[in-house]
Amino acid sequence: MAEIAVVGTGYVGLTSGACFSHLGHTVVCIDNVAAKIKSLRDGRVPIVEDGLQGLTQQGLANGTLSFTTDSKVAVSSADFVFLCLPTPDLPNGSVDMAYVDSVASEIGPWLRPGSVVVNKSTVPVGTTRHVARLLGRDDVFVVSNPEFLREGNAVKDFLNPSRVVVGGDDSGAVERVARLYEGTKAPVIMCDATSAETIKYAANAFLATKISFINSIANICEHLGADVRVVADAIGRDPRIGAQFLQPGPGFGGSCFPKDTIGLVRLAEDAGYDFGVLKSVIEANDQQLARTVDKVRAAVGGSLSGAAVAVWGLTFKANTDDRRHSPAVEVVRRLLAAGATVTAYDPTVSGPIGELTGLLVASSPIEACRGAQALVVLTEWQEFAVVRADSVREVMGGAGVVDARNLLDPEVWRDAGFSYRGVGF
Ligand code: UDX
Ligand code: UDX
Repeated sequence: MAEIAVVGTGYVGLTSGACFSHLGHTVVCIDNVAAKIKSLRDGRVPIVEDGLQGLTQQGLANGTLSFTTDSKVAVSSADFVFLCLPTPDLPNGSVDMAYVDSVASEIGPWLRPGSVVVNKSTVPVGTTRHVARLLGRDDVFVVSNPEFLREGNAVKDFLNPSRVVVGGDDSGAVERVARLYEGTKAPVIMCDATSAETIKYAANAFLATKISFINSIANICEHLGADVRVVADAIGRDPRIGAQFLQPGPGFGGSCFPKDTIGLVRLAEDAGYDFGVLKSVIEANDQQLARTVDKVRAAVGGSLSGAAVAVWGLTFKANTDDRRHSPAVEVVRRLLAAGATVTAYDPTVSGPIGELTGLLVASSPIEACRGAQALVVLTEWQEFAVVRADSVREVMGGAGVVDARNLLDPEVWRDAGFSYRGVGF
């Protein structure tokens, strides 16, 4: 069993650290935010991620998982150092490598001879070699091992992956990293670093393409009078297409798809290729947000100025507290900009949020609806599906419902007197 250090205890790093310790390795997780480390040492996980709290507490109790802010001590005794650092997009669409660059430069002198630095963050193609240069060591290895973890499902995805991808120039180091996953019994794809890095972008871009495609089909269905729910079910049964990621909605969001699609368009440009297909995927996603806003405008009678709108859901999808690039946040931003008064409820939000000045936050789904002319469902939290339509009808001023996630039962809501609009039917 190996000694592993994980730098960055966000969604990816903490999940990886807790899961590696569950697989029997000894793991130390490092973060530069002292409050986060203190909370984790006490067994309190500061993010919403199914199963993560349990695994973290189990690792702490077994002594196989520990937390520190001291990267020097942690890194110098590790066989493997996983980099799970933020790689946000810059305003020009390129990737902000500042965190990865500074950590790689810092840890270089502390690494054990023969140790392997593993890039898990989504990083531009070429970063494995770039990190090797920053480390400035010819006695350590650098390997790319992209993550495919869905937030909300990250622990299950880590322990039961569809595949593990490990890429690098040194086959011995690649095999050592692959062996860390033996407990998962997943198929392992070992390749060169450039291919491993490209796999991550290609996977996310393809999934985003599926979403923009089904959103486009949904929009056509609305015009034709077809039902996208039936269409998606039928095409998804073809194994060449696959049933997953065919759920129409307000557009894709989150910490990966928006930045990775733009990132891949940029990478393609640098390689002299105009990735028109992916540019259209991004454009269709923006149009989907605009379309959702248009539906709300119609639901309040044609003008958002001064309209009272209730919103259910602010996170980028259900079962996470993450609002990075959330379509819900973007729709609310546009509603507010158009002059609407917006009151939102989300199970992970208890007060005002910095990114939406002027948003009112309610303490329950019903409270959010009090006096509203229209309700818009932006995140597919299951608790919204069981709210009684007649109870909502009693507190609302108007009767518009825009269900951007096809979560509610249209018949029930129409029977309760609402003018219900879903996506794609
Ligand atoms: C990040 C990237 O955004 C994503 O592209 C990649 O695929 C995986 O890593 P995530 O884990 O969701 O994803 O990021 P985040 O939740 O922001 O966690 C990063 C952690 O690193 C934070 O806890 C932050 O405090 C920490 N950090 C950041 C450091 O420890 N040191 C730094 O210098 C910067
Ligand atoms: C994604 C990838 O799935 C994961 O493999 C990668 O490593 C990180 O990025 P995540 O960002 O957690 O994971 O969310 P995901 O479940 O993929 O959803 C992304 C966005 O697409 C969300 O806004 C979600 O609501 C939307 N989506 C997803 C749809 O609109 N329809 C679908 O059918 C699926």
